[in-house]
Amino acid sequence: MRLHVAEHPLIAHKLTVLRDVRTPSPLFRQLTEELVTLLAYEATRDIRTEPWEITTPVTDTVGRKLTEPRPIVVPILRAGLGMLEGMTRLLPTAEVGFLGLQRNEETLEAITYANRLPDDLSGRQCYVLDPMLATGGTLVAAIEYLFERGARDVTAVTLLAAPEGLRAVQEAIGERADVTIVTASVDERLNSKGYIVPGLGDAGDRLYG
Ligand code: PRP
Repeated sequence: MRLHVAEHPLIAHKLTVLRDVRTPSPLFRQLTEELVTLLAYEATRDIRTEPWEITTPVTDTVGRKLTEPRPIVVPILRAGLGMLEGMTRLLPTAEVGFLGLQRNEETLEAITYANRLPDDLSGRQCYVLDPMLATGGTLVAAIEYLFERGARDVTAVTLLAAPEGLRAVQEAIGERADVTIVTASVDERLNSKGYIVPGLGDAGDRLYG
């Protein structure tokens, strides 16, 4: 597993406003989209491209285009939906699949309640969107789900990650496949309720509650 913490003054500024308890839902949604677009730039650094011959008004030349099969973007419902627009703004030709996972707030275990994904993901680059990596249960379940369908190249884009969640993903996935986590911040810890500290509260509620 590879971890990339995106460090940029704009990301730090937007994330600070996002964390602020006084930030209302409309602004929270807008900032989430803006942050994802900035994170998507880092997350797609290894996206596959191939040579592409074109003619400019001046001459023939060889550029690059995204390789087939198309990458797939998978927002984890519900909070990950708030990240979709920001991601597809940068990757408009990507396919979008959906995965509904909810954390039981008592056991902290992730349960799958919806899925709309292609059966065969072999050879596809997958971008999983979920604002929070807390215990890691949700992300591990999502990655295992993609693995079952043949995916081996998964990048997760999160706004925040807890050290406990990063360890859980590392232990569960190990070196089995190419998994990268791109996040705007690795926070201090989880509290006794499994919330990220300092965190930003419940992302799903702040986006859609
Ligand atoms: C939150 C969050 C992640 C998950 C993280 O979702 O959006 O999906 O919890 O926790 P974990 O790393 O401990 O699994 P939640 O289950 O609250 O669902 P929601 O997106 O529908 O609000």
